[in-house]
Amino acid sequence: MDLLIKGGTVVTAKASFKADVAVKNGKISAIGTNLKPGKKTEVVDAKGKMILPGAIDGHTHLAMPFGGTIATDDYHTGTRAAACGGTTTVFDFVLQGVGEPMDAALARRDAICKEQGPAIDYSYHIGVGDVTTPEMLASMDECVKQGITSFKVFMVYDFGVDDGQFYETLQHAAKIGALVGVHAENKHVNDSLIKKCLAEGKTEAWWHYVTKNEDVAGEACVRAVNLAKMAGASLYIVHLDNEQGVKAVADARAEGYPIFAETCPQYLSLTKDVYKNGIPENGLRARDFVCSPPMKGKASQDALWNGIKTGAVSTLATDHCPFLQSEKDWGITKKDGTPGNFTTIPNGCAGIENMYPYILSEANKGRISFEKAVEISATNPAKLFGIDYCKGAIEVGLDADIVIYDPKKKFVVKNAENQHGALDHTVWENVEFKGYPVATYSRGKLVFDGKDYVGQAGDGQFVKCKKVKFKSPEF
Ligand code: URP
Ligand code: ZN
Ligand code: ZN
Repeated sequence: MDLLIKGGTVVTAKASFKADVAVKNGKISAIGTNLKPGKKTEVVDAKGKMILPGAIDGHTHLAMPFGGTIATDDYHTGTRAAACGGTTTVFDFVLQGVGEPMDAALARRDAICKEQGPAIDYSYHIGVGDVTTPEMLASMDECVKQGITSFKVFMVYDFGVDDGQFYETLQHAAKIGALVGVHAENKHVNDSLIKKCLAEGKTEAWWHYVTKNEDVAGEACVRAVNLAKMAGASLYIVHLDNEQGVKAVADARAEGYPIFAETCPQYLSLTKDVYKNGIPENGLRARDFVCSPPMKGKASQDALWNGIKTGAVSTLATDHCPFLQSEKDWGITKKDGTPGNFTTIPNGCAGIENMYPYILSEANKGRISFEKAVEISATNPAKLFGIDYCKGAIEVGLDADIVIYDPKKKFVVKNAENQHGALDHTVWENVEFKGYPVATYSRGKLVFDGKDYVGQAGDGQFVKCKKVKFKSPEF
């Protein structure tokens, strides 16, 4: 064996137990007590620590052109930061252009990713931008052949789909063994509220929340679930943020439908209050929190936590989509010097380095179990996106994507001192975590040593996803 992690507590989605973990050729080769190292084995003492599967962040936007600019973290800086927060695989979004076959969009983005040098393993979902012709719809098949088996449609934004296109995408996905994710917000009500607010001179970040409020998101979630039922397809609601949506997912699951939901740490930890004044003591203005969907009220936050406990929420992901503070300022003055408003702020926040530390810290404080934290951050995303044949658990035969976690370590996020991405601020500034990763291994190679990224650009490999077909909410 190459590496032996000794004396820690292994945590899986089902159980925690004391064991040693051995690694050979990048794979977990044995799990047991009193495993003996070979002559050349590197031995790591994990006494008092936890041995966890690396997190799988199923929702990132690296180097993505959006809101008139490009997301600040590229495929290297973003994945480097991910590794330092215990994430060992990311699923990034490829946005299909109008008239561009999805497999061509995939090739276009993958070339950029490879050139920038991913630090950890990666795969993609295709963000559907054009299914207006049979050819465009059929280009999903080639993606599935190439190992991309999940797609995301947008019910909002200019490039979003209408309900008919959404329905056809769902039907087609069910046929070819793919999963459709959805960004669920009611575009027409959103547009109408924006028009009204702007006419009344309401331009501040708060109105971003108001125009994308609980009902705007909730209605779209209910409709998305209904469309999936009609199409006989499974559905994955991304960045779920609202109570009505949690209920729609829970009810459909109780009826036996394969409906799944993802939420993000920002919806579990922040509320719409951040759009009033920001958090000035942390150097954060209200516009720094502008993301879509925006954070909601306390009732929605409570519903999401409850959804995690009951299983209505299956996964945690970041929706990492960072923009500089100078770009967030376009909500005051646009790039061209004319007055801005809440619609001219690039949508998205950072979080790629903070997801696992956040949810593990909540587990450490007793809010959920460590097993649940591992289930929603690693095991479930692996199953839903078809990579459980190689990732998502501490199991013999799987990739040695391993995090050593010190439950006693205290960590306070300071963007300028201890974060590893390219952004000039973070909405996580000054947040204190109870416990923190002290080492991250990607396929057996140390990439985070408890302080810094110690891997190399380009270490990350493309992960092929197998076809997925879910007949029930159990998977
Ligand atoms: O604000 C966000 N989340 N920007 C990225 C695009 C999206 O809808 O996920
Ligand atoms: Zn979205
Ligand atoms: Zn997103």
